[in-house]
Amino acid sequence: MSINVVILAAGLGTRMKSATPKVLHSICGKTLISYVIDAAQSVKPDQIIAVIGPGSDGTQIRDALKGSRVALEVQKEPKGTADALRTACRALARKKGTVLVLNGDTPLVSPSTLEKLLATHKRNSEIISVLSFVAEGSHSYGRVIRKAGKVVSIIEDRDASPEQKKIMEVNSGVYAMELSALKLLKEIKVNPGKGEYYLTDIVNIAVRKGLSVGSHLLGEETELTGINTRKDLCMAGIFLRDRVVSGWLEKGVTFIDTKSVFIDPAAEIGRDTAIYPNVVIEGKSSIGSGCVIFPCTRIIDSIIGNGVTIKDSTVVESSVVKDGASVGPFAHLRPGSVIGPSAKIGNFVEIKKSVIGTGAKASHLSYIGDAEIGDNVNIGAGTITCNYDGVNKHKTVVEEGSFIGSDTQLVAPVRVGKGAYVGAGSTITKDVPPLALAVSRTPQRNLKGWAAVKSNRKNRK
Ligand code: UD1
Ligand code: CA
Repeated sequence: MSINVVILAAGLGTRMKSATPKVLHSICGKTLISYVIDAAQSVKPDQIIAVIGPGSDGTQIRDALKGSRVALEVQKEPKGTADALRTACRALARKKGTVLVLNGDTPLVSPSTLEKLLATHKRNSEIISVLSFVAEGSHSYGRVIRKAGKVVSIIEDRDASPEQKKIMEVNSGVYAMELSALKLLKEIKVNPGKGEYYLTDIVNIAVRKGLSVGSHLLGEETELTGINTRKDLCMAGIFLRDRVVSGWLEKGVTFIDTKSVFIDPAAEIGRDTAIYPNVVIEGKSSIGSGCVIFPCTRIIDSIIGNGVTIKDSTVVESSVVKDGASVGPFAHLRPGSVIGPSAKIGNFVEIKKSVIGTGAKASHLSYIGDAEIGDNVNIGAGTITCNYDGVNKHKTVVEEGSFIGSDTQLVAPVRVGKGAYVGAGSTITKDVPPLALAVSRTPQRNLKGWAAVKSNRKNRK
């Protein structure tokens, strides 16, 4: 069966109270419309058309979807969901088969539910099949009105009588329609209350013509939630995060508190890794097995090996931490850092675009930027690579087995040779040969008896 998908995404989204178009709001790091596009792709459609608004809203969506192979049609004015679907008709002319209509603000709809809807639509030879669900609590979904068990219309919440409002079967805004049904869009009249053309009215029009229409309770409320408000957005995020964490629990990951962690659906976590409260793992991050990620840590687009410990309040951005390494507490790995196997990056250490060798240590209060630190190097407390001369960035190389004394400034470009030592408190501006000791601090003077002289002077005043 040939399938074309239309995603309605041109609404004003006024209930979000935002400068960002509703469908570009995100849950778990991905925009609402991207979720819908991914779900649409699962039915292997001939094409996906998204109906977007004019002006800045449309431009923002167009920019966000660049390179996604989604065809865009612009609805000139937000005149309702029926008008939005009519906008897509031009792109559907000369097509055959079924059109799957999706709402751009219903991101969690699962591929399996879409497949069930399409299968039911085909099996029942319906011209229009509505995907419905049972909604609990207060909501503003359209109610599915049935007579003698058969759907006859959909009544929007604002137009529903108190009796109709009690109906729990509601419209998800997802429909499978034969392309031939689209000609009925012309017959939809403007809703006098809202001044919009409601796509939902197509149901009653088709029923009155004796065409075969069905409404099918095939999905759950959690996946079919429409996002209209910030509260809806927050609740959908909570649901999705819960689903992601439950998946990792089943795969052998330990969570101390499932409610406080944020794991991006695109992230991977290995077995026997333990995740403490308030951990955020974003983007395409991958965490190996047997790791411990302590509280208040944020890992973004990074690769963490096996047996790694990330201690409290650490930020890891676009970096790699290899097997057995330890990072934190209060460390910041900035983009482009590679921490070697069994290396240790400790308290209040910032690493930027640097490679740290196997077993190397920078345990306290250091800044390592644009550097190459060899295997088993020891970087003393308070060491700073002075990598920036105000115009350009320069590189620091510390070769294997060197020892950098505390409070050293390595003024780049500079190289410390293999096995060399740098005395504490040095400012290193020249290369240090292998196995040498470099000391650059001013020699110490001891003024004997100075304290007694000072106190005598004070007493005389
Ligand atoms: C719609 C349905 C309602 C259903 C609910 C499910 C109608 C009239 N109502 O209500 O029965 O229960 O979805 O979530 O269809 N859009 C456009 N152009 C417009 C207006 C809207 O493209 O002129 C798009 C929106 O961007 C959105 C979708 O259509 O993605 C639905 O519009 P929205 O205003 O959110 O409809 P609801 O009131 O939620
Ligand atoms: Ca909606």
